[in-house]
Amino acid sequence: MTARDLGSVLEAIVAGVIVLDRDGRVEEINSAASRIVERSREQALGRPVEDLVTPSHAFARLVRKTLSQGSGFTESHQKVERRNVEDAVVDVAATPLFAEGELDGVVLVLRDRTARNRLEQLEEERERFETFGQIAAGLAHEIKNPLGGIRGAGEILGRRSSDAKNREISELVVREATRIASLVDDFMVFARGDRLDLVPLNVHRVLDHVLELAGMDPAFSGAHVERNFDPSIPELLADGDRLTQVFLNLIRNGLQALGQDGGTITITTRVALERRLVTDLGHSRPTLVISIEDDGAGMDAEELRQATVPFFTTRTGGTGLGLAVAEYWTAQHEGTLDIESEKGVGTRVRVALPLVPAPTERSPE
Ligand SMILES: Nc1ncnc2c1ncn2[C@@H]1O[C@H](COP(=O)(O)OP(=O)(O)OP(=O)(O)O)[C@@H](O)[C@H]1O
Ligand SMILES: [Mg+2]
Repeated sequence: MTARDLGSVLEAIVAGVIVLDRDGRVEEINSAASRIVERSREQALGRPVEDLVTPSHAFARLVRKTLSQGSGFTESHQKVERRNVEDAVVDVAATPLFAEGELDGVVLVLRDRTARNRLEQLEEERERFETFGQIAAGLAHEIKNPLGGIRGAGEILGRRSSDAKNREISELVVREATRIASLVDDFMVFARGDRLDLVPLNVHRVLDHVLELAGMDPAFSGAHVERNFDPSIPELLADGDRLTQVFLNLIRNGLQALGQDGGTITITTRVALERRLVTDLGHSRPTLVISIEDDGAGMDAEELRQATVPFFTTRTGGTGLGLAVAEYWTAQHEGTLDIESEKGVGTRVRVALPLVPAPTERSPE
């Protein structure tokens, strides 16, 4: 087989393939592998494997082990950190190459599990939300009916009483009953059957609107907002009200994390080529990434783990539904919500939304 034939065969393979010589330097790399290690073919050729990843990375270890022992090795679920897209999770197999009976090199075959992991994760989330949906529907029914009665009775009592103290008490009954009713409404967003109303929209306009809403609260006057908007971002097919809900919750959380002392909220938008659900078919999907960052209180590891769980809150007066709702509507848009946080340093929430609907069949790219 000529070198040119080998190149086109490698390109036709969905898995990542890296051929290394007996010194562990890259002799050939296909584009699937290029995407995994974020190096072009030109950048990779001739480089030792340690340059593609880190010297202690499984890829490097496997190559060196295969070269020294002359037999193949595999390892699954190896993480590859990436700068521009989410980190990859890869199953890797190293196989020795022999020329005239002599060990002459190694082939690394990389199977990208990132997409599959994402799918599994989405499926888990869907199941979780379905359970919430059932609970929500049951709760709504059980709570809202009697609550209507309580509120009505409170109003009647208030109107009938002549004494100011009693009127005050009945107002409290009405106010609190109304608050509980709206809490139940909030929780109802988990109920099934809530369809998205998708229209082309300008995400910057949504964000500006949310900032205006959040800014109305005088408690947040100490916060400085930095808009890092990429003006070239095209319109997005999404539900404006739902996205407003997502960003309003995130920005409010950010503002609350800044607290009395104030600080900065940075909102950044950009388009990324995220290899998402359809990776196994070799598609890339342009993704809009909106990141909301604050330099406020931050979370420790345990808080971070719990943050999106419904009713988890560390705030007095919080209901703990903000992030759960934000995550839910992001997932409904086939998007993802990731949170990074460090106690005392700040928090960054990244919402990734696909700019175009998922392709239904394979088309040449
Ligand atoms: N930007 C942030 N910085 C620090 N902690 C955060 C941030 N966002 C969320 N958290 C933590 O996660 C918890 C859950 O957030 P979530 O928005 O779900 O609920 P909440 O803000 O407490 O109440 P609400 O339902 O009113 O939004 C918060 O109580 C807080 O501990
Ligand atoms: Mg909140």
